[in-house]
Amino acid sequence: MAGKLTDKVAIVTGASSGIGEATALALAAEGATVAIAARRSDRLQTLEARITSAGGKVLSITTDVSDEAQVEALVSKTHSKFGRVDILINNAGVMLLGSIDGADTEDWRRTFNINVLGLMYATHKVLPLMKAQGIGHIVNISSVAGRIANAGSAVYNASKWAVGAFSEALRKEVYQNNIRVTIIEPGLVATELPQHITDSKALEQAKNFYGSVKNLESEDIANAIVYAVTQPQHVNVNEILIRPTEQER
Ligand SMILES: NC(=O)c1ccc[n+]([C@@H]2O[C@H](COP(=O)([O-])OP(=O)(O)OC[C@H]3O[C@@H](n4cnc5c(N)ncnc54)[C@H](OP(=O)(O)O)[C@@H]3O)[C@@H](O)[C@H]2O)c1
Repeated sequence: MAGKLTDKVAIVTGASSGIGEATALALAAEGATVAIAARRSDRLQTLEARITSAGGKVLSITTDVSDEAQVEALVSKTHSKFGRVDILINNAGVMLLGSIDGADTEDWRRTFNINVLGLMYATHKVLPLMKAQGIGHIVNISSVAGRIANAGSAVYNASKWAVGAFSEALRKEVYQNNIRVTIIEPGLVATELPQHITDSKALEQAKNFYGSVKNLESEDIANAIVYAVTQPQHVNVNEILIRPTEQER
């Protein structure tokens, strides 16, 4: 498929649903070859079939980003098959909201293993390849929760704050290698993200919050990602924060 990203190879983590799925479709529609990663293989296979039938090039690789060896395999399989990695979309994430007091600390470990360490592992694995190519773009999905902390969201806030800090330091380490770094900070997007909350009170509150405004769609975020990665090489879109119009905080 011809487009602004023809000849580019992109990896999208968390591509089995929501923002990652929409982003994989949008990048493929711009001509990118996409490696799609997540744990749910059946969903990846359905997406692979959609992209292929639309004329796109795609490879699905079942990956748990909290496992460093699996992330290494994701990057090396993509590179072996397609010969390069131009774009990494670090999107896989969970939002396990709940108060600090009384929390199930397993939620904390999952949050940091996926939202923070998973993103760091993938970045670590692609950097040598991008440096050798002399070009690359890493897009990290943070959140409005990476900019504004709230009661009941401390650990999710902390994980997304970490994404912001890591991304800015990364940018300073790699800009001279022609590697661009972007963080995307969505507000409320209609996806399955809140459904995985394990704390029943926090789940109820999240449902009410999501239900209180007209949410963004995953495609709205995919459009912002496509905008960032299709700018000329001298333009480094560092940060995009997007809320639904009706969202206040
Ligand atoms: N929806 C919102 O309101 C919103 C707002 C701000 C930021 N975000 C961020 O956007 C990103 C995508 O979320 P979404 O809203 O699209 O939710 P989603 O539909 O639940 O998607 C999350 C994705 O992450 C993947 N994932 C979770 N754990 C994983 C693991 N251990 N290894 C690999 N993949 C894993 C899931 O796939 P599997 O379960 O198949 O592994 C799924 O594809 C997240 O980083 C989230 O924090 C979302």
